[in-house]
Amino acid sequence: MGKILAISNQKGGVGKTTTSVNLASSLASLGKKVLLVDIDHQANATTYMGINRANLKYTVADIFLNDIEAKDIIENVKSVSVDILPARFELATIETSLISKENKEFILSNSLDKIKGDYDFILIDCPPSLGIITINALMAADAVLIPVQCEFLAMDGLTQLLNTIRLIQTKQRHNKKTLTIEGVLLTMLDTRSNIGYEVISEVKTYFGEKVFHTIIPRNVKVSVAPSYGLPVTEFSPKSKGSLSYHSLAKEVLENNEGK
Ligand SMILES: Nc1ncnc2c1ncn2[C@@H]1O[C@H](COP(=O)(O)OP(=O)(O)OP(=O)(O)O)[C@@H](O)[C@H]1O
Ligand SMILES: [Mg+2]
Repeated sequence: MGKILAISNQKGGVGKTTTSVNLASSLASLGKKVLLVDIDHQANATTYMGINRANLKYTVADIFLNDIEAKDIIENVKSVSVDILPARFELATIETSLISKENKEFILSNSLDKIKGDYDFILIDCPPSLGIITINALMAADAVLIPVQCEFLAMDGLTQLLNTIRLIQTKQRHNKKTLTIEGVLLTMLDTRSNIGYEVISEVKTYFGEKVFHTIIPRNVKVSVAPSYGLPVTEFSPKSKGSLSYHSLAKEVLENNEGK
């Protein structure tokens, strides 16, 4: 299948990386071959997966700056049988380095297309911005998964993201893709407060069928797992957070069956 999903929302701290890492490990535990692509200079997905950044010969930045093939950069996360294209701080300098580069919006797309056939899913953990790096991710993607935190101002900035998606769709003619919305994922629901339920209702009114049935609860195991370099699905498999990401993975698989 080789479906490329960008996990994106330019709002910071909404659960993009947590979702990327745990959806990747859950899909892998369901027998799927998964590549996780970290294109955030914060390199959180790389860290959350327990990769020691200091020892890397290449990182994802080398795709953009030095034409290194993705297959020469990929590392394997043994604890969860997920492949990863790791990131490091170098990515922070890319925006300026790419200014004069031709076809700069298609660099990631061209690179991932060469290895797409090796995977069932490629998940791209996007940074909290709509700059050239995120544009590369959206251009490479078949669909975008939008995490929305069940908190005050949850919908802030989503119009901007939807406008960007429409812009990408018009430009994707060049690489024969049409970006769709895979789904909107409600994250970090605190069941003790009303605001979370108000956000759920607001998001469902706006996005309707596009909202995943699975809602990710706020769960302490989810926030602790990264400090052990493990997805919560490995760190605490029976926790509510882990079970909810497993349920999300099943939903993604059902939605893609026969496609
Ligand atoms: N379900 C959850 N329960 C508890 N804590 C969570 C949950 N999901 C995410 N967190 C915590 O919230 C913080 C932000 O999550 P995360 O890093 O996934 O967001 P992000 O959207 O990737 O952030 P950024 O925009 O900086 O890349 C992290 O400390 C993470 O551990
Ligand atoms: Mg992140």
